Amino acid sequence: MSEIERPVIRPRRLRRTPALRRMVAETSVEARQLILPMFVAEGLDEPRPISSMPGVVQHSRDSARAAVADAAEAGIGGVMLFGVPTDEHKDAEGSQALDPSGILNVAIADAVAEVGDALTVMSDLCLDEFTSHGHCGVLTETSAGALVIDNDRTLELYAAMGLAQAEAGVHMVGPSGMMDGQVAVIRDALDGAGHQDVAILAYGAKYASAFYGPFREAVGSSLQGDRRTYQQDPANGLEGVREALLDVEQGADIVMVKPGLPYLDVLRQVKDAVDIPVAAYNISGEYSMVEAAAANGWIDREAAILETLTAFRRAGADMILTYWAVEAASLLAR
Ligand code: PBG
Repeated sequence: MSEIERPVIRPRRLRRTPALRRMVAETSVEARQLILPMFVAEGLDEPRPISSMPGVVQHSRDSARAAVADAAEAGIGGVMLFGVPTDEHKDAEGSQALDPSGILNVAIADAVAEVGDALTVMSDLCLDEFTSHGHCGVLTETSAGALVIDNDRTLELYAAMGLAQAEAGVHMVGPSGMMDGQVAVIRDALDGAGHQDVAILAYGAKYASAFYGPFREAVGSSLQGDRRTYQQDPANGLEGVREALLDVEQGADIVMVKPGLPYLDVLRQVKDAVDIPVAAYNISGEYSMVEAAAANGWIDREAAILETLTAFRRAGADMILTYWAVEAASLLAR
């Protein structure tokens, strides 16, 4: 038998003890990097569970306030608020989104009244929760009779929606509708009204994804059809970088890549291409897959959560929107 060659280089040396592994870890996850997406529904007296997202609820105004206070207490980075109006309050133009007494705008004011500047309060800036057809923009009829998205008319509504959110006291708006030019018009509208300090977290690369499925229940979506004329084709990576660069040019303060796990390559490319912070959205389908597998005993839930968040950080995310934000903060503190 020939003599076994003894390796001189042994990477395993640095993996031998927990203390060594902790010392050489290249990335870490911290509570301050996590942002909790929250749903606040109109007309609820108490929170309503979302069956497709076990552990996540549609909040009432009161329970949302309490959850925002808990988020601040947990030391996470912020909350991203989504409004869920009643069906009677949806219309073709999503007008409740612009109304100071609309559910999202009152939820912003409630959150800011609760935590002030102690926690960053962010809001989704998109019409889809508010439109009767569920699209992110308003529709117009072509001469051939087809209904298509009117990009530029939608921009006017986004500008007004951004102003309504700024008036409600939001720290940062999150335009997620993927209309061309949205960041520029929102920036311009905010600046024109003296809201220079309201920041923009732009959904730079946002893909038309099957993994949004559970979210559609979470917001009681009215969508018929799909969003493929405005959200990106999953086949395109370079286009994601192009979208992110356009948002930077238009004045975004942070750009986001969404979904997260199936697009970590896009996240890395965007991180390497821009000189502003990059966020990633660990979306509803990614959440529910882990929860469902864990409920079946097929996966170690807490380990899977921490591994997921670590993967986002390794791929280049400076911050992560995740439904596990508050729980993860307590796991990380152990
Ligand atoms: C659109 C919006 C969506 C999500 C966040 N903002 C859904 C969509 O584009 O259909 C999805 C978030 C998630 O799945 O967790 N305003």
